[in-house]
Amino acid sequence: MIVLVGFMGAGKSTVGRLLAARLGRRFVDSDHVIEERCGCTVQEFFAAEGESAFRTFEEATILHLLQGEGYVLALGGGALGSARVRRALADHDVVYLDTSLEEVIRRVGQDSRRPMLRSHDVHQLYADRLAVYAATATVVVPADRHDPEGVASDVLAALADAHGGAAPDAPGGTVSTTAAVVVVGPPGAGTTTVGTLAAARLGLECADVERHLEERTGRSVGDIFVDDGEGRYRELEREAALDLLATRTGVVVLGGGAVLDPAVAASLDDARVVFLDVGIADAAKRIGFDRSPALVLLNPRRSWIVQMEQRRPAYQRAATWTIDTAGRSAQDVADELVGLLEGEEA
Ligand code: S3P
Repeated sequence: MIVLVGFMGAGKSTVGRLLAARLGRRFVDSDHVIEERCGCTVQEFFAAEGESAFRTFEEATILHLLQGEGYVLALGGGALGSARVRRALADHDVVYLDTSLEEVIRRVGQDSRRPMLRSHDVHQLYADRLAVYAATATVVVPADRHDPEGVASDVLAALADAHGGAAPDAPGGTVSTTAAVVVVGPPGAGTTTVGTLAAARLGLECADVERHLEERTGRSVGDIFVDDGEGRYRELEREAALDLLATRTGVVVLGGGAVLDPAVAASLDDARVVFLDVGIADAAKRIGFDRSPALVLLNPRRSWIVQMEQRRPAYQRAATWTIDTAGRSAQDVADELVGLLEGEEA
């Protein structure tokens, strides 16, 4: 994939569109994808959620887009602040459109829709980012001149040079999701058991976000929850979920709350997601609420019902398919899931 990077105002979108047209490829702008996914402009997102939330959303969106193939992708000026994005770019043609600070200020200095120009000193931001652009790029193309067609020609020539004279690869243009299927649902839905059984039938690996989180941190989910609190747990859960969704090709099982995270929900947009639905009667049996007198006193049934009511819309939004698991064995549910996937491929 050809990826354009550079400071605000470098012309990434304009040049990117021209390049895509010449190569017969699709053009994708990471900021536009973010805007579509969150249903607001980048400026509104910054105002409502702050820069740090934007960066999380941006990172997840870009890691997902980089799983696709064959299009021309323009990244927002701050995207290379993420080490994971920089690492993911290692397999791509990264073009740095190099503009001088004077030219940047001429082009965007007065643009009130750019949140970074209001919250940061543009000289400092520019100085901080230059080395990162240059270090990440496969080719550097000067982009001060007011001739996007000419810059696009320079990009193609520079890429051909970098590839030993060969033109960039053939047109394509799909945004693919890595996971074959993602399983979501509340505690007691049987997500892990069903995911494992379905993966075995499909000859795929099954990765579980909670296990992945425990491997990454060397601590148990219970310990993190109790010692560090739910807020920290949710951050670690988000990182583990995004990592699995971007890198695993088999079945991915999400913990009951992961889907509520906006970045995780966004990265499920193009995924095949199965929601395992369950009511309190089956969930209580599977989790064992009814077997423990101590638990009956604490009334976990009530918390489960309240939590499920809150989460159901998020499960439903994410779901490609919903399977009702009431009164059924995990094997039976896994067989239905495999049938759905096979039906789609047929
Ligand atoms: C940003 C650049 C913008 C957009 C957001 C933050 C930045 O993209 O992602 O306003 O940090 O430089 P462009 O570089 O396409 O303007």
